[in-house]
Amino acid sequence: MKKKLLSLLLTGAMAASMFVGCGTSTETTDGGASGGDAAQTTESSDAAASTGKKVGVSMPTKDLQRWNQDGANMQEKLEAAGYEVELQYASNQTDTQVNQIETMINDGCDVLVIAAIESSSLGTVMDKAKENNIPVIAYDRLIMNSDAVSYYATFDNFQVGVVQGQYIVDTLGLDVNDTSKTYTMEITAGDPGDNNAGFFYNGAMSILQDYIDAGIIEVKSGQVDFEDVATASWATEKAQSRMDSILSNYYSDGTNLDICLCSNDSTALGVENSLAANYTGDYPIVTGQDCDIENTKNMIAGKQSMSVFKDTRKLAEQVVTMVGQILNNEKVDVNDEETYDNGTGIIPSYLCTPEFADANNYKELLIDSGYYTEDQLQ
Ligand code: BGC
Repeated sequence: MKKKLLSLLLTGAMAASMFVGCGTSTETTDGGASGGDAAQTTESSDAAASTGKKVGVSMPTKDLQRWNQDGANMQEKLEAAGYEVELQYASNQTDTQVNQIETMINDGCDVLVIAAIESSSLGTVMDKAKENNIPVIAYDRLIMNSDAVSYYATFDNFQVGVVQGQYIVDTLGLDVNDTSKTYTMEITAGDPGDNNAGFFYNGAMSILQDYIDAGIIEVKSGQVDFEDVATASWATEKAQSRMDSILSNYYSDGTNLDICLCSNDSTALGVENSLAANYTGDYPIVTGQDCDIENTKNMIAGKQSMSVFKDTRKLAEQVVTMVGQILNNEKVDVNDEETYDNGTGIIPSYLCTPEFADANNYKELLIDSGYYTEDQLQ
């Protein structure tokens, strides 16, 4: 009953999110997919705020597709609003990220927007930002254990996992009271150094744990706890080699693998590569997140069942609005003041809405909205 209700709510939420995305209460118009003409109301305050102001944008890596898009979107939208932008990528090296942020502070940035590589490793440079009275917006990933973080802007990370878990339940028509049919599952989660990874995992397990407990879903490898299924750096190769050994240890006797719960697309890609090389049974459900190009192609080809689309244009638009509000001493647009405690207290957050994606709706979601061209998905 509870599950049915959740399922209904989720379907409703998915439908609503198709329209809502990451719109802000201050927008007078739908920012639109391209965000080309964001809300009229914020334009004048952006202009006032941006005069002579510089924003430092620190991104984790160019290796994963999404951060290239995040960085490019942030730069484009900040520059369009009149800010000078210092954008750096840190090659997934925390030391590099710390040095780059230090340079941004020395260069006189007025606001820092940071997507941390390691949620807990920016301590000292954050102290320096605070000493210099530079507000910090944690971008997508929360920076932990630092009281220098002013705001957090992200997608609803727990909900991402819920969407993945609920998709599995709905697709297989699972009923917790019906143990007549059982399914095998393996779990691939994200980087333990990324605060988001636990939220994705917990969101999915909030739906799936009951079915595991009832014996309806069996994790043959026995690897269920987050520490056992985490993937350092979200690396495709690491997810692939772990799945290689799971397949050879637990599924080489012809047992079907029915479900691969993967927290995001880079790990899903590793699992898909491993399945292609090592597995001949019925193809499993494979979940993902981000709608990366390779994964969207795999969805179209039937090698990945779903993904969760996080429109980075909308997140960037929201962060640009927040930057303007901070610099104008206006009330900053947040919609969550209870979920994200970074160890120093609750960080006021703006959570954008993640959207369900699969081979049926990718055209509307990704192509019609201008996120990708049809050619990119060939
Ligand atoms: C992001 C995900 C992304 C992952 C790997 C997470 O912090 O929220 O969208 O897939 O990092 O880059």
